[in-house]
Order: sequence, then structure tokens, then C-alpha cells
Amino acid sequence: MALTGIFLILFLVVHLAGNLQLLKSDGGRAFNEYAQLMTTNTFIIVISYVNYALILIHIIWAILLSARNRAARGSQGYAVIKNSSHWTSRNMGILGTFILIFLIIHLRGFWYQMHWGGIPTQNYDGVIVKDLYAVVDAAYSQPMYVAIYVISMLLLAFHLWHGFISSFQTLGLNHPKYNPVIKFVGKAFAIVVPALFALIPIWMYLD
Ligand code: HEM
Repeated sequence: MALTGIFLILFLVVHLAGNLQLLKSDGGRAFNEYAQLMTTNTFIIVISYVNYALILIHIIWAILLSARNRAARGSQGYAVIKNSSHWTSRNMGILGTFILIFLIIHLRGFWYQMHWGGIPTQNYDGVIVKDLYAVVDAAYSQPMYVAIYVISMLLLAFHLWHGFISSFQTLGLNHPKYNPVIKFVGKAFAIVVPALFALIPIWMYLD
């Protein structure tokens, strides 16, 4: 869980950096050129397949782990809920399930369209590029879509709040000296990254 989690954390950083180009006032050119590169460069395509596999492993492992934990606890649930355990750590499965639902809606709306949908094209200095920006822009003109994204990013923030620090601990990458730093970076990451993701649909809706 921890290894796949750390890779997915890295994916989020790269994905966010690319998506922030949606906020440029260039009619979507920078974003469309970025999306074209992401779907045609062989090295990036290979990394994408690794990413799909790791997402699946992360989900399957989570299901197996929670089934095992539930079996170990019996039908009584938690006998004592320690005050020190944040509720996010006890609800990673529920948060993850909602994030999975978000991911299905998200991939259906953008990724599927980019790969197999009949989307319009743009001509940039003689180079024909799929206009994925138009697809994203149309989606974020619907308040319902914007609301789904913003709520999902809030859930992602809670998932990362526990997940980031926990993955470092599980891998033994903790040390009394550096733990406060890891905690701070983990919590800052859990707030800043989902907040910037959420900013994109809000910005595009208001723009
Ligand atoms: C405002 C927020 C977001 C926007 C605008 C956005 C936009 C996009 C777009 C346009 C694509 C299709 C790109 C392509 O196929 O090349 C995509 C793919 C994807 N997105 Fe997002 N995304 C957002 C948030 C997220 C979040 C929070 C996650 C994970 C929790 C996520 C996971 C993915 C995955 C796994 C793919 C497939 C990547 C691949 O083909 O390698 N996205 N996203």
C-alpha cells in the first residue's frame, strides 16, 4: 500500500503541474500541447501503464487489507477508539471508495474522451492537436461537475492527511529527528495539492 501510495503521490504532483496549465489565458494551447505529449511520447506511455497498474494494486490491496482487518476484529468493530488515532486513519477505506467513484467519473469524462472520444482538434502552427481543453472547459461550465470535483478533492485531502505520513512510516522512512518534518510536509501536501486541484474547476467555471 505504502509503495504504491508514494508513487501515486508523485503522480499527483506531475498531474497537478500539467493541469495548472489550464489556468493560462492562451485558449488552452499550452494544456493541449502538454496533453498531446502525454499521450504520444513512448516513455510517458510506459509510465502511464505502470500508473494504471499501481492504481489497481493500491485498490485491490486496500480491499484485501480491510477484509483481513475486519475478520480479525470480529463483529464487534473497534473495542476502543484511541484518541490519538485520527478518524481519517479509521476511514481510509470509505474515503478511498469515494475517490474511486470520483476516478471513474473523471476518467470517463476526460481520459476516455482523449483516447477514444471524437473530440475537436486545433491547428497550432501546422501541427494538429486534440482540443482536450474544450472538453475540460465544457465539463467545468456545469455547476454539478464543479461541485463533484470540489467535494472529491476534500475527500482526497483527508485520504492524503493520513496516507502520506503513514506510507513513510510503513516503509520505515521515519526517524525521530526527521519525523516532525515528514509530518509537516505530509500535512501541507494534503492541504495544498487537493486545494490547487479544486481551484482549477472553480477558476474555469468563474472565468
Ligand atoms: C481539477 C482536477 C483535475 C483535472 C483538471 C484533471 C484532468 C485530467 C485530464 C484532462 C486527463 C486526461 C489526460 C490524458 O489522457 O492525457 C486526466 C487523466 C487522469 N487523471 Fe486527472 N485531473 C484532475 C484531478 C485528478 C485527480 C485528483 C486524480 C487522482 C486522484 C486524477 C487521476 C487521473 C488519472 C489516473 C488519469 C489517467 C492518466 C494517464 O492516462 O496516465 N486526476 N486528468
